[in-house]
Amino acid sequence: MDAERPDDRLLEPAAMALRRGRLVAFPTETVYGLGANALDPAAVAAIFQAKGRPGDNPLIVHVTSIEAVYALVDAMPPVALRLFAAFSPGPLTLVLSRSALVPDLVTAGLDTVAVRLPAHPVARRLIDLAGFPIAAPSANRSGRPSPTRAWHVAADLEGRISYIVDAGECSFGIESTVVDVTGKNPVVLRPGSITNQQILEVTGVLSVEKQEFADSSPATPRSPGMKYRHYAPRAKVLVAEGSDPVGRAEFAGQMAAKLHLPPFEIGYFGCRQFLNLLPAEQKVAYGDEPEPELAGRLLFDALRRLDRAGVKVIIAEGLLEHGVGIAYMNRLRKAAGAWQIKGEEDDDK
Ligand code: TXA
Ligand code: MG
Repeated sequence: MDAERPDDRLLEPAAMALRRGRLVAFPTETVYGLGANALDPAAVAAIFQAKGRPGDNPLIVHVTSIEAVYALVDAMPPVALRLFAAFSPGPLTLVLSRSALVPDLVTAGLDTVAVRLPAHPVARRLIDLAGFPIAAPSANRSGRPSPTRAWHVAADLEGRISYIVDAGECSFGIESTVVDVTGKNPVVLRPGSITNQQILEVTGVLSVEKQEFADSSPATPRSPGMKYRHYAPRAKVLVAEGSDPVGRAEFAGQMAAKLHLPPFEIGYFGCRQFLNLLPAEQKVAYGDEPEPELAGRLLFDALRRLDRAGVKVIIAEGLLEHGVGIAYMNRLRKAAGAWQIKGEEDDDK
């Protein structure tokens, strides 16, 4: 359906399915979500089942107004109101202390709840038609790249869910920035399209959680989802880092030479400046020159498309870790790191 003008006649059956405790995948401005009634524990349990998601990884609850947030939390610190005012509706998720209304399953037993007001008109209309908050993780099988188009959802979840609401491509393509505002200072748990700098301008002070690539320590990370295998296509992913496209292409060429694979079994993702320096037969370009917003928007789609093209290895252009480049590199490193984590290779958690 039209992303800007949601069609109620098309959305109503999906809203009805949600009211009956079923699962509906829907577009947001970040990625497609797999939605269920956040206040119905059985419906929420079905999300974990369909995704193959570990029960200790909590879900984000989606609402369309600040009033609706108040019902889900037992405290609204001033910094939360400032952040919502600055970035909501939009790709921001805040972790707040939860109210008794929120089922344990949603928060994986934590005393906090993650809340987001999506900006996508279709998401907002679906939530309003349903009439309750919607719990929604990204609509992929656990461990796979997040879906930014309806066919990505179908590839992972066809037959397991009631509806996929198709409104085309997601505009950001990388999941929301998750900020914990329950402590003295706000902490970025997951980088996203809203950058550390943008948040800092509102909050005045900010910590950034160190990102781990594998769960090798027994300690509980503050954002449980960050410890799991993530974003992994079937192909092995290598990251070509360097200070500019020329240096990155040189590095990519060296890595490719060591693979001893026929050229059509190596896929490349990057800007044209980078790709044009390589004998790439299978490639996805996000734009002419390095641009993290565009790269982030296409990354998950590129991983899935190159998988479909049958490549064995994907070599992706690394970008500088500034602004949205931080979120892009976070996702890319996880996609690359996933295959390296020993013992987890076949474990699609
Ligand atoms: O953009 C997005 O955030 C998308 C769309 C659908 O809204 N959703 C999404 O959900 O990415 P998911 O489940 O794939 O990622 C949620 C992240 C996980 O890393 C999870 O551990 C973290 O948020 N999270 C959820 N509740 C939390 C809580 N109470 N405390 C700390 N982290 C939490
Ligand atoms: Mg996810």
